[in-house]
Amino acid sequence: KPLVFSGVQPTGNLHLGNYLGAIRKFVALQDSHECIYCVVDLHAITAQLVHGDLAGQTRSITAAFLASGIDPKKHIVFNQARVPQHAELAWIFNCVARIGWMNRMTQFKDKAGKDRENASLGLLAYPSLMAADILLYRATHVPVGDDQKQHLELTRDIATKFNNDFSARIGELGVGVEMQVGDESVNGFFPITEPLIEGPATRVMSLREGSKKMSKSDPSDLSRINLTDDADTISKKIKKAKTDPEALPSEVEGLEGRPEAENLVGIYAALAEMTREQVLAQFGGQQFSAFKPALADLAVEKLAPIASEMRKLEADPAYIDSVLRDGGERAGVIAEDTMKSVKEIIGLLDN
Ligand code: TYM
Repeated sequence: KPLVFSGVQPTGNLHLGNYLGAIRKFVALQDSHECIYCVVDLHAITAQLVHGDLAGQTRSITAAFLASGIDPKKHIVFNQARVPQHAELAWIFNCVARIGWMNRMTQFKDKAGKDRENASLGLLAYPSLMAADILLYRATHVPVGDDQKQHLELTRDIATKFNNDFSARIGELGVGVEMQVGDESVNGFFPITEPLIEGPATRVMSLREGSKKMSKSDPSDLSRINLTDDADTISKKIKKAKTDPEALPSEVEGLEGRPEAENLVGIYAALAEMTREQVLAQFGGQQFSAFKPALADLAVEKLAPIASEMRKLEADPAYIDSVLRDGGERAGVIAEDTMKSVKEIIGLLDN
């Protein structure tokens, strides 16, 4: 049965990239799938253990989920630290995954920087915890932005190795499921997860530099639109966004080699739920001085209601906590069940 899982770290302000690349898709998948959405607080401490306000940021991401339209009654919304099986399964995956696999992760290389010896061990093992998040629920589909692709490939590698290493035992216990991987039918305990990385905004770029990803950690606030920015700030940032002097092309091919133009067209398309072709059919031949105000209006129209709903929710932390508690309890039931089988498969006595 298809099941969707995804997570967002409570580090810094959510921005338009997080919204278009991930959260908006979380909302859309709710009608067709069972979904579990997690605020991954244990991941947030891998880069920096001592935070200004980890609890507040966890509540704020939860508020963003709810304000965007995620229904915590129909689906599950919770924070990772509430369900101890995430850390437990991550430990087991630390023993499945190889150090070489982790060393190859580009996110680790970026975040650790030059002084790798001084990065936390948790930062290196980060993808193991991410695989545990997903596979604890035996999730089949994971909506994410393009930057998480490599981590999801690693998740598939971990699932495959576990299924292979224990294939006999999984068969004996009868806990496997038949699944289609490529054109092969295999029996395994963990599903081989499909990443869902589609649409015109899988990689939203910085508004200041078309070659850099929009990111929470960019020192320039002008580089990103935060979900909590007010209408004036959104308009100002779009007005100041870097562009080239040419008019917009009327065909998508004309965006090649024009990363800033491509980015703004992609953002417009995603916000308007149009294709880039449709956007260019409308704006091709026009100057940025005409396109930018249209984009600003659209962004304000789509984002302002979310920001105002977030503020309302954030004024009631007790309600947010009750949502997380309820979600945590329901997630915990599934997690416990998976861990029971995992321990049986491996031979870890817990009876
Ligand atoms: P995080 O918290 O960095 O980002 C949350 C989501 O936003 C997407 N994203 C973007 N999409 C488009 N353009 C951008 N500029 C942009 N920046 C961020 C990310 O791809 C992500 O989908 N490792 C994950 C969190 C995680 C997770 C998981 C995700 C932990 N466990 C299990 C899926 C399943 C992360 O750091 O996301």
